[in-house]
Amino acid sequence: MPRAIAQARTADLPDLIRCWNQIMVYDTMSRQEMSRALFCSERHTALVARVDSHTVGLVGCIVPEAGGPTGHITMLCAADEPVATDLLAHAEDLLLGEGVSRVVASEYGGSPLAPGTDPRYAPIRAGFERAGYRHIRDLEDMELCLTDYEPTPHQQRAIEKAAAYGVEVRPWSPELVRRLTRFAGVARASGHLPAGWFWEGWEQGPNMVVALRGEEAVGYARYDPAPRGFYGRYHRRNAGAFGPTGVLADHRGHGVGTWMLAHACLAVKRAGCEWLWAGWTNTPFYIPNEWAVCRRYAVWQKDLGG
Ligand SMILES: CC(C)(COP(=O)(O)OP(=O)(O)OC[C@H]1O[C@@H](n2cnc3c(N)ncnc32)[C@H](O)[C@@H]1OP(=O)(O)O)[C@@H](O)C(=O)NCCC(=O)NCCS
Repeated sequence: MPRAIAQARTADLPDLIRCWNQIMVYDTMSRQEMSRALFCSERHTALVARVDSHTVGLVGCIVPEAGGPTGHITMLCAADEPVATDLLAHAEDLLLGEGVSRVVASEYGGSPLAPGTDPRYAPIRAGFERAGYRHIRDLEDMELCLTDYEPTPHQQRAIEKAAAYGVEVRPWSPELVRRLTRFAGVARASGHLPAGWFWEGWEQGPNMVVALRGEEAVGYARYDPAPRGFYGRYHRRNAGAFGPTGVLADHRGHGVGTWMLAHACLAVKRAGCEWLWAGWTNTPFYIPNEWAVCRRYAVWQKDLGG
């Protein structure tokens, strides 16, 4: 039966969500989450594959904002390997037409946040391989149960160490904004932290912890006790989100990051959450803090070449 590939429309949502949730069993989405993931940006295009009007797959792709070289596949759902390769080929054509020369699959942190491609989906993995993508790294999400959470001995030692280093960790307050703005400037200029972490309005509270050393902010951590959705990436109810977080490179290794993490855990627990989730984690930092990996997903890359 020939396959038809067409741009997804809002009217397709019921079929798309049915198809997605049947195939993507580790990443099920609500209709609202899918609608946001597919249609929240004009730069994002979703293509749907149908056989005899039956939906068999979906690919999402997004072009870079300022005509950059890298386009992203934000999501790929496919009933089998041929559907996956076919959808990828169509998405690549679309990205090529926009001047993209490299495609990265499922490492897109903007909106729509990429749900990632869990390596357990064998047909999708095979589809990426067959389409000439290289598996360049794995990313992880982690979680912590907050029910009995108290700062651990590791965290208490880190807090003492950071205090001896002259750092104080405080919840966000309006009078810190000036120092945070300066901090963002330093972080951007130094390249210590990814520029994408400082999107507009990032210094707004209240769900932020700030590390101060004298007059200067040297680190921050955001958290959200009531996230609006995880884009199908996390299934626990009553979970808050942690991140992003960062400490300026010159001040790392003194316990500051661990103190901010402990502070945020307590704040989210006090807000009534039972779980705390963090996406795209720097896993070695979280392991001694007793977090566990709850999801792993593959990042794929392909140079489209001339
Ligand atoms: C992760 C980060 C916030 C930790 O801040 P910090 O102030 O250095 O944290 P602490 O001093 O409390 O503890 C750091 C511990 O994690 C370890 N760690 C951090 N990143 C690590 C990495 N990539 N690989 C191995 N270990 C790492 C440190 O070696 C240190 O271990 P130690 O206590 O045995 O010395 C900081 O390294 C940072 O800003 N990194 C870049 C941004 C980032 O990765 N953010 C987290 C994304 S989820």
